[in-house]
Amino acid sequence: MNSSNKTITVIGSGLIGRSWAMVFASGGYNVKIYDNQPGQAAKAIKEIRKQLEELEAAHMLRGELNATQQIALFSNYDDLAQALEGAFFVQECVFEQLEVKQNVFQDIERLAGKDVILSSSTSCLVPSNVFSKVQNKSRCIVSHPVNPPYYVKLVELVPHPETASTVMDTTHALMTEVGQAPVRLKKEIDGFALNRVQAAIIAESWRLVQDGIISVKDIDLVMSEGLGMRYAFIGPMETMHLNAPEGLEDYMKRYGEGIQRVLTSFGPVPEFSNEGAKTIVNEMCELIPSDQEHLSARKERRDQLLMKLAKLKKDH
Ligand SMILES: NC(=O)c1ccc[n+]([C@@H]2O[C@H](COP(=O)([O-])OP(=O)(O)OC[C@H]3O[C@@H](n4cnc5c(N)ncnc54)[C@H](O)[C@@H]3O)[C@@H](O)[C@H]2O)c1
Ligand SMILES: *[C@@H]1O[C@H](CO)[C@@H](O)[C@H](O)[C@H]1NC(C)=O
Ligand SMILES: *[C@@H]1O[C@H](CO)[C@@H](O)[C@H](O)[C@H]1NC(C)=O
Repeated sequence: MNSSNKTITVIGSGLIGRSWAMVFASGGYNVKIYDNQPGQAAKAIKEIRKQLEELEAAHMLRGELNATQQIALFSNYDDLAQALEGAFFVQECVFEQLEVKQNVFQDIERLAGKDVILSSSTSCLVPSNVFSKVQNKSRCIVSHPVNPPYYVKLVELVPHPETASTVMDTTHALMTEVGQAPVRLKKEIDGFALNRVQAAIIAESWRLVQDGIISVKDIDLVMSEGLGMRYAFIGPMETMHLNAPEGLEDYMKRYGEGIQRVLTSFGPVPEFSNEGAKTIVNEMCELIPSDQEHLSARKERRDQLLMKLAKLKKDH
């Protein structure tokens, strides 16, 4: 990392933009925040200040600097050119709309220095679409975070077919330095890795409920009290490696055939908005009504537990 250039520009100051800004500041970076809604970036910094103070009080502040020092690292801009001045890395966090992102990157390329890395937070768009209007695609990359990035540290790094390996390496080093957990995809693919695995889990859970095998409540328990207990610390590969006396090869000798048999019995892609889907939605809403009061309470609980889990993982 070029230590003389410690400035990062965050484009878009919504939920994810604010989170990225906090993550970068925790690593000691100057963070310039730009939003095309006048006054929005300034509002975001006020909100960040409040959050950092709360985190400090809860002893959950990340990084070596205290909240006051971190707050001093932020500046807000309503002008894109000024926001980009002096930055070596740009993290885009605007609306998840292809055209909006394409145009934002076209504007950024025009105004940023030629070595500046252009990174997108997109969850669902592939780099070859996001960066189609950028001329020098070798400096472009997707850095896909997981919400909330302050506690869930995974970042999927997804290259455009033309992304330079040095750009992947620099981004990986930056993410590691600020305390995130980056993973490299070797090629772009729809859904990246996280959302593909998530879609597989959603599909089979949905089918099991739809086919009358298990209730909504109990399939969630299968994850939260079963698989999820391990998955917070070890992935599916290590889980298998540890679940047979002689490791992964042994595991596959014992269980491979059974897994293949189950896999061939999986049903088709589920329908998520037909009559059957309504029954599933109703069953969920009986457990947790979908009004703001109930949802907020459950979100708060989720974030509190995530915070404690992040702390547990940090201490081990
Ligand atoms: N929310 C999540 O859980 C999540 C998780 C991972 C990735 N992402 C991705 O992060 C990105 C941002 O999502 P979000 O949830 O923060 O959205 P958001 O709607 O909360 O924030 C978007 C912000 O971008 C600003 N904006 C819109 N167009 C702009 C432009 N042309 N120039 C500058 N600013 C502009 C808006 O004013 C707003 O402040 C999306 O691509 C999303 O897919 C979101
Ligand atoms: C934060 O750290 C700075 C520099 O060490 C120090 O001057 C300041 O008093 C600290 N602030 C708080 C609230 O601890
Ligand atoms: C394209 O981007 C790469 C990677 O940042 C950079 O090294 C190179 O100088 C750029 N090329 C041009 C023509 O701007």
